[in-house]
Amino acid sequence: MPKGARRFAPGDVERVAALERAIFGDPWSRRSFEEILGFDHLQGFVLDDKARELTGYAFCSAVEDEGEILNLAVAPEHRRKGLGKRLLAACLAWLAERGAAKVYLEVRRSNEAAIAMYLAAGFGTLGVRPNYYRKPTEDAVLMGLDLAARGARK
Ligand SMILES: CC(C)(COP(=O)(O)OP(=O)(O)OC[C@H]1O[C@@H](n2cnc3c(N)ncnc32)[C@H](O)[C@@H]1OP(=O)(O)O)[C@@H](O)C(=O)NCCC(=O)NCCS
Repeated sequence: MPKGARRFAPGDVERVAALERAIFGDPWSRRSFEEILGFDHLQGFVLDDKARELTGYAFCSAVEDEGEILNLAVAPEHRRKGLGKRLLAACLAWLAERGAAKVYLEVRRSNEAAIAMYLAAGFGTLGVRPNYYRKPTEDAVLMGLDLAARGARK
């Protein structure tokens, strides 16, 4: 697992839900984070700073040979320090371990920072889902990564 990222645990639910509410207009509920803990095909990763404050989190799912990045965020004051990349790497390592060959995600069309991060990690753009998001309504860009091919090249 990449340095610093640890697995999401029950004690993280409150802080992750609070950061989620601070960042997203249409946040996941506290309960949805809690429920993730009960599913074997879902996994979360979190990062803390030296003061043990939560600096970011990521959630992914693995079903058969397909992986999905469900949610990923870094606290505004900690961005552009490589934390997003580290959380994504933690998810991809877990998905590879679970046998995912392809990994997919959706991202808001206007989210240039996230799209740049995913492109830098090797994801490609597969298409657009019109009006996929709410609050505000916006298209999603569907992105995908061939994890099996990436692993074979390493
Ligand atoms: C997207 C997000 C997770 C990136 O986190 P981060 O910790 O700042 O990202 P990193 O520092 O690891 O950056 C990794 C790469 O992403 C790209 N990137 C990140 N932020 C960027 C920005 N604002 N503009 C352009 N490129 C950016 C760069 O290629 C960067 O590599 P570099 O710093 O070597 O140039 C963060 O901006 C965030 O939490 N945004 C709000 C939540 C969100 O949009 N989540 C994604 C939902 S799909």
